[in-house]
Amino acid sequence: MSIQLHLHSSREAAIRTVAQEMAMLIRNKPHAVLGLATGATPIPLYQELVRLHRVEGLSFRQVTTFNLDEYLGLEPTHPESYWNFMHRNLFDHIDIPAANIHLPGSQVKTEDILSHCEAYEDAIRVAGGIDYQILGIGRTGHIGFNEPGSPADSITRRIHLDEITRQDAAPAFGDLAHVPTHAITMGCGTILAARKIALMAFGEGKAAIVRRALREPVTDEVSASFLQNHPDAHFHLDPASASAL
Ligand code: GLP
Repeated sequence: MSIQLHLHSSREAAIRTVAQEMAMLIRNKPHAVLGLATGATPIPLYQELVRLHRVEGLSFRQVTTFNLDEYLGLEPTHPESYWNFMHRNLFDHIDIPAANIHLPGSQVKTEDILSHCEAYEDAIRVAGGIDYQILGIGRTGHIGFNEPGSPADSITRRIHLDEITRQDAAPAFGDLAHVPTHAITMGCGTILAARKIALMAFGEGKAAIVRRALREPVTDEVSASFLQNHPDAHFHLDPASASAL
């Protein structure tokens, strides 16, 4: 098994490819279960899915979604919460019923976190498992918020965010002090259980970590490297993010 590499001529070409795969899945399997990601990387993908919905009638009425992660401690309506991000960038513009949308909670009490995470895992199972999982990659090599040290078989849980991750998020929050210290994330095991996985990475800033994830031995120091052991994992790169390979 190895990660299948797709070297696109541009980020737009990569986005079109992934959006077409998702559209084909949904047309063939209207009850498809999608694993969704946040960050700057998937924003143009969501724009393309909205366009396919508006222009080509792609319907999400029977689709179910599970997001990878959510910051802990934010109001869902906080501009940087992933709940807000997903509604702003995708859900508000397509026909998915609210009941089909799942994100980990942002305001779960400490004593309820374990049962909340177990319920999230159960909901994925009850939905039939994830058919197509979208991923970005953080500078620490994380997928979701699986920071270095996350085991390959980890499940949905509370995680302490790495300082690099918090620094990368600081501009969006205005100040490092405003960036949450913890999040709830699907585990590496949760992600690896998806039937197909598409990781997108664009720009020079991702080149070094993409090389580590793809070319170096599998290690829990780079959770994206676990994808090397997945039977249907794909990296969609632009020339800049592929420049260190
Ligand atoms: C956050 C998210 C990840 C995402 C990463 C990279 O840490 N939890 O899911 O992949 O940021 O974000 P960007 O796409 O903005 O580079």
